[in-house]
Amino acid sequence: MAKLFLTQLNLAQFRCFSRLRLKTDHRSVILTGENGSGKTSILEAISLFSPGRGLRRAKVADLARHLNPSPSWKVSCQIDRDGTQRSVETTWMNNSKRRLEVDGKSVKQAELNDCVTILWLTPAMDRLWSESADGRRRFLDRTTMSLIADHAGDVMAYDRAMRERNRLLRHPDSDAHWLKVLEFRMGEAGAKLTRQRLYAIERLTRALAGSVSPFPIGDIRLISQEGAQATTIDREELTEALRLSRPRDFKAGRTLIGPHRADLVVEFQGQNRAAQLCSTGEQKALLISLILANARAILEDFDCPPVMLLDEIAAHLDTHRFQMFLAEAKQLDCQMWMTGTEWALFDSLAEEAQKFQMVVEPDGSTVKIVN
Ligand SMILES: Nc1ncnc2c1ncn2[C@@H]1O[C@H](COP(=O)(O)OP(=O)(O)OP(=O)(O)O)[C@@H](O)[C@H]1O
Ligand SMILES: [Mg+2]
Repeated sequence: MAKLFLTQLNLAQFRCFSRLRLKTDHRSVILTGENGSGKTSILEAISLFSPGRGLRRAKVADLARHLNPSPSWKVSCQIDRDGTQRSVETTWMNNSKRRLEVDGKSVKQAELNDCVTILWLTPAMDRLWSESADGRRRFLDRTTMSLIADHAGDVMAYDRAMRERNRLLRHPDSDAHWLKVLEFRMGEAGAKLTRQRLYAIERLTRALAGSVSPFPIGDIRLISQEGAQATTIDREELTEALRLSRPRDFKAGRTLIGPHRADLVVEFQGQNRAAQLCSTGEQKALLISLILANARAILEDFDCPPVMLLDEIAAHLDTHRFQMFLAEAKQLDCQMWMTGTEWALFDSLAEEAQKFQMVVEPDGSTVKIVN
């Protein structure tokens, strides 16, 4: 099986860091430190090497260290894939777009999968099952992107056409021909992205079947909100539904139907309880189950492991479940970047992990190697 891991991470003027260079080997990484010492910021920096806005969905300007008089930041890393090194870098300077380079060449976000796939779990996601469908759709789309590189581009194409259509819907005398063109584009991108979402669900379900996880999932489904045509995989049907929905959409001033009204439903195995009825720990267990299944599917399909970012992973899990998680994650042989408040939680990893202690200093946070 191929190996893939970060060997170096460099931050400049990023969040609470003025400068940081972290050298790592193939093993997983554990970061501990007091609140506000920069643990999540390190994971966030790595998450920028996957399509989107990173694990906190922050605006680029908010990532720049406040104390820096000229707002700009840079994050770079070295990735080892079976002995071949690649360098990935992302930079931002005031009033410009974020730039992304692989081995010195500019690349698009959707091309990052060719280099590294990154999965993450954060404490904010503990509320995924009880909050609005937006978060669940984003989660499903990230999972889908990790399995189908094209998906990021299709999501963007759909959103772009929908934003433009929504703009027209706010003006009653809008150009009907332009609306038709946009509905065609939404139908095309929308049906494709739904097909891809359904594939990802089917792939996760298969990967879950091979799991001996203590985090059992009964069923995963994509559903549509009432009358929203959110799960159709037929381009013409979606385009026509958008056309028919125009009068209602004009009244609402936005698009009421389409894959942006889809929702992800996950049930806990056994009593087939919907996720939002599960306890906090059970809901976290469902997420862990999905992320492990996602990692397994990536390994099987691409013969290359993802890098996993697991922020406060032990929160809400009892000791037994947390140790079971570590045991299962170890089998996947991924480089995991985990944060926690205490070393003791990770004792069972012993020498299999590299430990770093965050230290807050007057000129920004830094890290100390513990072992
Ligand atoms: N743009 C910025 N410039 C400077 N400091 C920032 C910026 N954004 C956030 N911070 C600060 O960086 C610090 C580190 O935040 P981070 O979320 O990484 O901490 P953490 O170690 O994960 O803490 P916790 O244990 O509470 O989760 C915080 O004090 C935060 O206020
Ligand atoms: Mg944190």
